[in-house]
Amino acid sequence: MQIVHQTPSVDLTTSSPRDIAADLLVIPIFDTDALADLPDLLKAADGEIDAARGRGEFKGKPYELFLTTLRGWQARRVALVGLGPKKDFSPDRLRRAAITGALAARGRGMTRIAIVHRPDTGVGAELAAQLFAEGAIIGNYDGASYRTTDPPRVWLASVAIAVADSAAGSAIDSAAAERGLERGRVLGESTNVARELANEPGNSLTPRVFADRAAALAKAAGLGVDVFDEKKIADLKMGLLLGVARGSSEPPRLVVLTHEPKGAPKGPVLGLIGKGITFDTGGISIKPAENMDKMKDDMSGGAAVLGAMIAISRLKAPVRCVAVIPMSENMPGGRAVKPGDVLTSAEGKTVEILNTDAEGRLVLGDAVWYARQLGATHLVDVATLTGACVVALGKTTTGLFGTPDTWVEQVRKASDRAGDRSWPMPVWDDYKELFKSEIADFGNTGGRAGGAITGALFIKEFIGELPWVHMDIAGTAWAEDAKPYQPKGATGVAVRTLAELALDAASWTSRT
Ligand code: BES
Ligand code: MN
Ligand code: ZN
Repeated sequence: MQIVHQTPSVDLTTSSPRDIAADLLVIPIFDTDALADLPDLLKAADGEIDAARGRGEFKGKPYELFLTTLRGWQARRVALVGLGPKKDFSPDRLRRAAITGALAARGRGMTRIAIVHRPDTGVGAELAAQLFAEGAIIGNYDGASYRTTDPPRVWLASVAIAVADSAAGSAIDSAAAERGLERGRVLGESTNVARELANEPGNSLTPRVFADRAAALAKAAGLGVDVFDEKKIADLKMGLLLGVARGSSEPPRLVVLTHEPKGAPKGPVLGLIGKGITFDTGGISIKPAENMDKMKDDMSGGAAVLGAMIAISRLKAPVRCVAVIPMSENMPGGRAVKPGDVLTSAEGKTVEILNTDAEGRLVLGDAVWYARQLGATHLVDVATLTGACVVALGKTTTGLFGTPDTWVEQVRKASDRAGDRSWPMPVWDDYKELFKSEIADFGNTGGRAGGAITGALFIKEFIGELPWVHMDIAGTAWAEDAKPYQPKGATGVAVRTLAELALDAASWTSRT
């Protein structure tokens, strides 16, 4: 396993901006913010900030960056990061501005940053501290982990966060700000843990390695851990998971994680299920060569569930949680499952394999059933399930499928708070006829039309009557292009959504 992230020291500071020792002072500002309350800053920048704005060099557009030198301040440089217009503001802009600042600093060889919160965002100290800590840590990620020829990678060593304008003398609740800071730290680190696993090549992260790694990380975070090997999986009669694993010489694993907070009531129990295909060749229905390398991230859903459970445990979310992560390769070996084969799921339902590349829904079918056996009352599964979802929603929006609508809406709202965009899609039963089988209860594919929906409906066959949401992250798990606020590569999508959902359990346990 190669290092792709480091956690800098992250601390609050009450010093005034001029006294904060850092290589780079990062200040996210609205496009109309004239910084009139910081005349010292404008002076220390020797008029360059006003001049740059005057000539249109810096307009304050979202995540636009302007760097200049400061004279007479502890920090030698300042970076203004645009927040865009006030009317378009959402707190996620602060998280992304912090990522932008962190990436900008590292790109310039700077290791100590300070992030200064402006008073005009309307975001309180607790949330601002969280978003800045989270963003700085998410910005301290680099997926080029196996390169030996590049110059050494620069990591942030320290992040100072100023959440109140102490010059204005406004009092902040420092206990609340510390809570926010810790929440941001944990959410940022857990996101990076998921990215590290998704980044890892298929030859080093096999199902056995993934399971060992997940177990070690989960134990360290205080979670209950069970790892099932191929024998135990066979004892449980998980024919769908075993069917997918048949084509590989690497055996499958099933990892079960539990979070049992002291004093929590017996129910509800949040059940999280994540697709853990460590490499997807397509199997006998083999994929084309082009871009097949990307299929090393087909375990991003499993990694997201692991990351979320780590955050849930470390932040002591007030709700019971169980997680089930089925892990397998999808390979075209001599014993591989073939089109036309019929598999029997642990629940007893039979499935005709029409396309061996629709393997995610198979391993999830057995895994969601097992989450139900463990007593889950509310289900969320996360999977890089379909190319069709990428066609429908693109690379920045996760598809949400599920029932009832109130539960889907809870997940959507959690994703909004987390800075993971998602949007609901229909799961009407009309689509079920698309994956009928002549020989078995149903087939595993429904053709091209509505491909993301039939994928979701297949999973729905295994959820019984429980509230359930399926998150299709096929588009969002991997960023193809670098953005100021998003390096290329694994995104860790859904880690923070699931953690937010558990942390906010009070708002849904009584209602859904
Ligand atoms: N892992 C893929 C889905 C995928 C595609 C993820 C592109 C990321 C980018 C999944 O196992 C798969 O192969 N799905 C098939 C389903 C089809 C055979 C019904 C697909 O989307 O083509
Ligand atoms: Mn596939
Ligand atoms: Zn797959």
